[in-house]
Amino acid sequence: MKIAIVGSGAWGTALAIRLCKNGHDVTLWTFETNLIPQMEQERHNIRLPGAVLPESLKISGDYGCVKGCKLVVMASPSFPIRSVCRGVAPYLDEDAVMVSVTKGIENGTLLRMSEVVAQETGKPVVVLTGPSHAEEVALDVPTGCLAACENRELAELVQDTFMSDTFRVYTSPDAVGAELGAALKNVIALCAGVSDGLGCGDNTKAMLMTRVLTEMARLGISMGASKDTFAGLAGVGDLIVTCTSMHSRNRRAGILIGQGKTAKEAMEEVGAVVEGYYAAASAYELSKKQGVEMPIVTAAYRVLYENLSAAEAVHTLLRRGRKSEKEDAGWL
Ligand SMILES: NC(=O)c1ccc[n+]([C@@H]2O[C@H](COP(=O)([O-])OP(=O)(O)OC[C@H]3O[C@@H](n4cnc5c(N)ncnc54)[C@H](O)[C@@H]3O)[C@@H](O)[C@H]2O)c1
Repeated sequence: MKIAIVGSGAWGTALAIRLCKNGHDVTLWTFETNLIPQMEQERHNIRLPGAVLPESLKISGDYGCVKGCKLVVMASPSFPIRSVCRGVAPYLDEDAVMVSVTKGIENGTLLRMSEVVAQETGKPVVVLTGPSHAEEVALDVPTGCLAACENRELAELVQDTFMSDTFRVYTSPDAVGAELGAALKNVIALCAGVSDGLGCGDNTKAMLMTRVLTEMARLGISMGASKDTFAGLAGVGDLIVTCTSMHSRNRRAGILIGQGKTAKEAMEEVGAVVEGYYAAASAYELSKKQGVEMPIVTAAYRVLYENLSAAEAVHTLLRRGRKSEKEDAGWL
């Protein structure tokens, strides 16, 4: 199948390698046209050190490379996704299907990434997400992801296209839950990093991860997601991988903030897109819009955007009133 991957960051590159190995005719579109000679000649992308670009992979800086593609994978970071979609839209085939792998919620509009892609391209969109570090996928480390779309046929098309002996793809009809899980886990990876940077322990991180799942599900249900999705690959799966690994730039940024750096300094030091920073603002606004209580997301927002110290944010969370773990505990 002819496929374009629009975005040559670590994730777009890893997926391009996967699809070439699956025998597809793949073009990788890059924003960084200055890197094209290196990618073409040395078969190397500085965004994904250690990975070899297959000989069959074509590289392009031209939006027109999506012409004739049945699948177009949108793999840019969240902040430029709308402009990148506008760039490719005029060249899309009539029956093109979009795959959204970007994790985030658009600042301002509070739209999910697949909603932005659908708005700008007018095409159906499948969400591909899950616990998947690019560095590991590129090396064929066994990985499981979720192809989520209301349309089963399209979810199965994406499943069949990406699936391999080392890359398992499950399907789901719940794109809302899958995308909220993906966006919010980046905020929590930042929080887990802050917790580590402050010198808190494993207990703290485990509490953070499990309590935030409740927050995610609360928000998700208010937006029509299924609660089960948050217990799956796109929820708890992605939370585990991002909150416990040094591959996660969100967690690395959080550690620096916990150690006393400002959000800006931390992002500069990490040097790659820290989606959790943008997602924290959108998630906070979304919780207000939906009237859903999200104390951990609110604390993250206040640290990142209102200069609340990380230590004070932890104390504020710990000093909240007593709660039952189950909101509908059923006690008389
Ligand atoms: N890295 C991973 O393991 C991974 C896994 C799953 C999902 N994701 C998601 O994929 C998305 C991309 O992340 P990444 O890790 O590939 O990014 P990255 O940090 O490796 O690279 C960022 C990319 O953005 C491009 N870019 C910068 N400014 C741009 C602009 N104005 N317009 C278009 N492109 C621009 C850069 O050229 C670069 O290719 C994110 O939403 C991320 O959450 C990443």
